[in-house]
Amino acid sequence: NKIKLFCPATIANISCGFDVLGVALDAVGDEMVIRKAKEKGIKITKLEGQDLPLETHLNVAGVAGMALLEHVDYEDGFEIEIYKKIKAGSGIGSSAASSAGAVWGINQLLGRPFSNVDLVKFAMEGERLASGVAHADNVAPALLGGFTLVRSYDPLDIISIPSPSKLYATVIHPQIEVKTSDSRKILKTNITLADGIKQWGNVGGLIAGLFQEDYELIGRSLVDHIVEPIRSILIPGYDTIKSESLEAGALGCGISGSGPSIFAFSKGETVAKRVAHTMKEIYQKIGVDYDVHVSRIN
Ligand code: HSE
Repeated sequence: NKIKLFCPATIANISCGFDVLGVALDAVGDEMVIRKAKEKGIKITKLEGQDLPLETHLNVAGVAGMALLEHVDYEDGFEIEIYKKIKAGSGIGSSAASSAGAVWGINQLLGRPFSNVDLVKFAMEGERLASGVAHADNVAPALLGGFTLVRSYDPLDIISIPSPSKLYATVIHPQIEVKTSDSRKILKTNITLADGIKQWGNVGGLIAGLFQEDYELIGRSLVDHIVEPIRSILIPGYDTIKSESLEAGALGCGISGSGPSIFAFSKGETVAKRVAHTMKEIYQKIGVDYDVHVSRIN
């Protein structure tokens, strides 16, 4: 009647795959406790670590959970306690962790009536509340683990992609908050054919690289011609962090989700830690507070 969960942080976009690619991290995540309750609906009974609303209709876990409950015949309800470790507005899927955790846990307690793709659909309602757009590139990897591709939104088609065994992610979060809704507003809604060609070449290259465990191919595919040039302006020291991380041995480096966190992929933990050290030094030098962590991708 009660379940305790780890809700992982996620990197969305992964440079070339705006709104379609994402990956789950193991080093950072929230904790959530969900229990069955007599009262119908969903009640957020505790929320620690972040200043976020408790009202069900204003809380992403509440909204995602209610989206699920609308599709079952269930007379009782659920109580949710959320222990946030992921900062809101950090770019590593804070709202997705809560949305995904709520629907995953409730589905378990109900005896698993829904498939993972159904759960992604419900969790996307939490994302709609958080960012104004029901994007799935954070909730899909939070629910399925590893790398995921949203091949199509309508109908929803989610593909799991294998993770090469030596792949590590370094993520640094400059301590500023960037709301996904704001960093979406600044994007252009049209792209040129020339940029499209470069971008889908890289998406294909990245997917092939992940399947073939070809680290070089993964590295040269981590390029974003469309979103990075616009959003990187909001991130302190972005160009320096990127060029020095590549110098330190990272395969590739880009904006995590809608930022301001920056991620780098590396082959092996030693390189990933060296990249973390390089990133830290840059922020120390220019006086930016940060959090940094290294995750194995699996
Ligand atoms: N794909 C979304 C965006 C992810 O970049 O706006 C937000 O975390």
